[in-house]
Amino acid sequence: MGGKEKITRLKKPPGHHHHDRHRRKKHNWTKLLQNNKSLTVGSSFVGVGAILVYVYLQLTRGQLHTFVSALEHVTRAVYDVNCSKDYESEKFIECKPKRCARVVRDGLISEADAAYLLNVAKKGLAYGGSNGGASILDLHSGALSKGDIFINIYSLLKKDNIHLFTEEDFMVYKKTKDKIQHAIAEEFGIPINKLYLTKPTFFSRMNTTEAQTIHDEYWHAHIDKETYGSFHYTSLLYLTTYGQEFTGGRFIFIDPDKNRTVEPKLARVSFFTSGSENVHYVEKVEDGTRYAITISFTCDPEQAISEPSFS
Ligand SMILES: *[C@@H]1O[C@H](CO)[C@@H](O)[C@H](O)[C@H]1NC(C)=O
Ligand SMILES: *[C@@H]1O[C@H](CO)[C@@H](O)[C@H](O)[C@H]1NC(C)=O
Ligand SMILES: *[C@@H]1O[C@H](CO)[C@@H](O)[C@H](O)[C@H]1NC(C)=O
Repeated sequence: MGGKEKITRLKKPPGHHHHDRHRRKKHNWTKLLQNNKSLTVGSSFVGVGAILVYVYLQLTRGQLHTFVSALEHVTRAVYDVNCSKDYESEKFIECKPKRCARVVRDGLISEADAAYLLNVAKKGLAYGGSNGGASILDLHSGALSKGDIFINIYSLLKKDNIHLFTEEDFMVYKKTKDKIQHAIAEEFGIPINKLYLTKPTFFSRMNTTEAQTIHDEYWHAHIDKETYGSFHYTSLLYLTTYGQEFTGGRFIFIDPDKNRTVEPKLARVSFFTSGSENVHYVEKVEDGTRYAITISFTCDPEQAISEPSFS
């Protein structure tokens, strides 16, 4: 059951960059070997010993496996996991996970729509911005990070009589949300009218500025169902690409055997069941700025939120 990987991969686009981590590793090796050349036979043994220790440390350091790389295009990559017991006592029979998994889909959302939403995120976030490295904008509630707190962007815009968001902004947002909702319903066999949008659903922007408050600390391992209560299915739409607009910032699932990463990429959708079968965190951004949208779904009609609307 668990750990099955089913992936439909298309050919890689040209011009791969190797991961920084790999490059750094190779560099260390070269240095180690070069330094070794000038040593006497006796100390060569010490050198070889050092290499063996180094190799041992690399191998036991904890395995990080790339589930889906930014360099590939996957129409649908699926990694099945055994469901946790988190859903057992719940009702919502038609909606709650019967099967648990992580799914990555490129091509579900067009790059044009993702790029459009990136601009919506940028123009909204321009009115706020956390003092730390993580800012959010929630188009439903209007919550926007500003300094060490959250303000309401709609109140702010109204007060200053600014017409920032257009009808098209909300249309693209809704169209995108609908496509992801249908993809989740289809993947997990849920009647579409039993799966509801829930909160928080928000844009996020992460950079290398040091955290100032707990809200800036996105890199702690967590379970969405615990953190947010209402979530049954979490989805992420990436608006920038790992290795291009930023480094670090990979999405990491924590598993007993090894951790598995999803590398963000413009228009890539990643979704998964929100229980403790999918403990995860986002690695600290090392360079640049990372943008994404978190779109969350619940099986509980009482936790449903309505679409944000242009009015
Ligand atoms: C999932 O459960 C099955 C049956 O109990 C077990 O054989 C398998 O190893 C489990 N998979 C994982 C990834 O834990
Ligand atoms: C996975 O990541 C967690 C959190 O960073 C870490 O504690 C754990 O050792 C990692 N697991 C493996 C198998 O590398
Ligand atoms: C990160 O974003 C904050 C706003 O949230 C900004 O003040 C800061 O200058 C940015 N840092 C970098 C390194 O771009």
